[in-house]
Amino acid sequence: MPFVTWSEEYSVNVKVIDQQHQKLLELVNGLHAAVESCIEKEQLRQMLVELVKFTAIHFSTEEEYMKKYDYPQLASHHREHRILLRHLNDLVNAVSGGFRPTFYSDYDVSTDWALLHIEEHDRGLGAFLNSKNVY
Ligand SMILES: [Fe+2]
Ligand SMILES: [Fe+2]
Repeated sequence: MPFVTWSEEYSVNVKVIDQQHQKLLELVNGLHAAVESCIEKEQLRQMLVELVKFTAIHFSTEEEYMKKYDYPQLASHHREHRILLRHLNDLVNAVSGGFRPTFYSDYDVSTDWALLHIEEHDRGLGAFLNSKNVY
C-alpha cells in the first residue's frame, strides 16, 4: 500500500485548502505507518481521534467557503463530508472496542480516500472559488 504523497497535481489552487490537505495527508500517512508498525492500541486510537478532529476542522473550512459563495454543489459535497466523518468515527469506535487492524487496508478506508475526495469533490470547489477570485 503506497503512502499518500502530496504533490502539486493535487492542488485545488486555494491556499488554505491546500495547506489543510497537506496536513491531512501527513496525518493519514502517520496513521498508515503506525498500523504497519503495530503501534499500541491506545496510541492508535489517539491518532485516529486526532485525524477525526482535524478532518472535521478541514471540512468546516470548506463548508464555510461553500456557504459564503453559494456553491451550487454544497449539498452533495457536504453529504460526502458527513459520510467520511461517520466512517472515521466508526473506526475510532471499532478500535476502542478492540478491533486491531494489521494492515492499513484493514480499515476499509481506501488508502486514497483523502485523495479521491480531493479529486472528485474539492477540485470542483477550488475551480468555483477561483472563479470568485478566491485563491
Ligand atoms: Fe471536501
Ligand atoms: Fe478537502
